[in-house]
This record gives sequence, structure tokens and C-alpha cells, in this order.
Amino acid sequence: MKPYFQTDTITLFHGDCRDHLLGLPSESVDVLLSDPPYGMAYEAKGRSGAAIRADGSRQGMRVFRQALTSAGHALKPDMHAFVFCHWESWPDFYDAASAHLRIKGALMWWKARGGMGDCAASFAPDYEVVLHGAGPKRRPLAGKRHGAVLAGYPPVPARARTHPTEKPVNLLAYLVERSCPAGGLVLDPFAGTGATLVAAQQLGRRAVGVELEERYCEAAARRLEAGGAALRRAA
Ligand SMILES: C[S@@+](CC[C@H](N)C(=O)[O-])C[C@H]1O[C@@H](n2cnc3c(N)ncnc32)[C@H](O)[C@@H]1O
Repeated sequence: MKPYFQTDTITLFHGDCRDHLLGLPSESVDVLLSDPPYGMAYEAKGRSGAAIRADGSRQGMRVFRQALTSAGHALKPDMHAFVFCHWESWPDFYDAASAHLRIKGALMWWKARGGMGDCAASFAPDYEVVLHGAGPKRRPLAGKRHGAVLAGYPPVPARARTHPTEKPVNLLAYLVERSCPAGGLVLDPFAGTGATLVAAQQLGRRAVGVELEERYCEAAARRLEAGGAALRRAA
């Protein structure tokens, strides 16, 4: 299938990942890094006003399970996987991911700022869960052992976001750098506006992403064009 955007190292497909992942070469993916629809019927407030496709509580989980099935043949035996989840739906993500991966643990992305909910009678939901899984063959992470709390990666401010649940590129770059060998391939089946692809581009890793909504593909392509130009200027 024709990519929506492509460079030597980065490929973005517009469409349903459950179709596109079937075409990936066998045992080609070193890292699955993804932020699937959380299954929380997310409704963005404010300027973007956009709901996330496939984000109904059961639908999000079904899409994630099916994506893993479509990608199964493409995962290297020594791959690592990172999957962002909401605190309420992570047990379902754990079950879905366990069918394909050895779950190694959960990381906490500490966002250092509150969130919505019952402000007077609950603790602030100032974190997101990131499940860490791996293939059957062990491959060490790069560098010395770190703790599971990911702090120092502030959320993208609302005014700067191109996607309602956009993740900070430096957080994704940290995960890619620790888990993906030089020249390795990162896969993001739910690419949104391409934060994972931009992180891979900055680190000189290869990456494949798939995104269902064309407006997000457009934004991702713009970011990747700009990122490529900045790297060329710096070279
Ligand atoms: C939580 S968002 C990812 C945001 C991304 N991490 C970013 O920083 O921009 C999930 C994305 O998955 C997309 N999506 C939902 N179902 C999909 C499918 N079947 N195939 C590909 N993308 C899908 C949605 O359109 C949405 O942009």
C-alpha cells in the first residue's frame, strides 16, 4: 500500500492499522511503542474539540487486540514494547498484551500536574501508566538500570498540541533510545500526529506508523518534514 509520507527511514500509512500491519515484513520490528485509543470514550475539551476514533470503552480495546494480532508476525523475538494506558483501562490492556508479550512491568509517566475529576475528594490523576512488555528472547535495555517513574517530561501544553492526546517527543525518545538498537525499527500502529515517528527520526532509528484520520496524518507529515529539514541543517 502506498505510504502517506515516506523518507529513507520513516514511513507513515493512512488507514486502519489492522490492515496495514499485516503487510509488515516478518520479524522486522525492534520496538512497539504505542498510545492506542484508551477505551475511555475520550472527549477533548477546548480548541481541538475532537473525539478520538475507536475510543468507545469496548471498541478501543478490541482495536488494540486486533492490532496486536495483525502485527504478531512482524515482532522480533527480542523486541520491547511500550503501551500507554489509562489507570482505569490498564488491566484490560494488560490482558490483551499478555497474549503476545511477556509483561516486564509498568512505568508511570508522572505529568506533575493535575487533571479532571473530583478535585476535593480524590487524588489528582497526574500520571499515565505505560505497560512494558518484551518478546520471548531477552534483550537488555541500553544503559544502566533506571527506575520506573518517568519524571521530567512535561505534557505538551494545550496551545501547542496538534492532537488532543499528544505525547511529548522527549518522553518517547527516552523509551526509544533505551530499547531500540542503532538502525532498529520502531512501530507505532496508532500514530496520531506522529510523536513516536518524530522521536525515531531525531534518534536516527527507522520507524513505521499508521493513523486512521487523515487530518492527523497531515499534521504528522508536516512535523516530519520540519524535523528532516532541521536535521539536514544541523548536519
Ligand atoms: C491516543 S491517540 C495517539 C496520539 C499520539 N500518541 C500523538 O502523540 O499524537 C490514538 C490514535 O489512534 C488512531 N486510531 C484509532 N483507531 C485506529 C486504527 N484502527 N488504525 C490506526 N489508527 C487508529 C486515532 O485516530 C488516534 O489518533
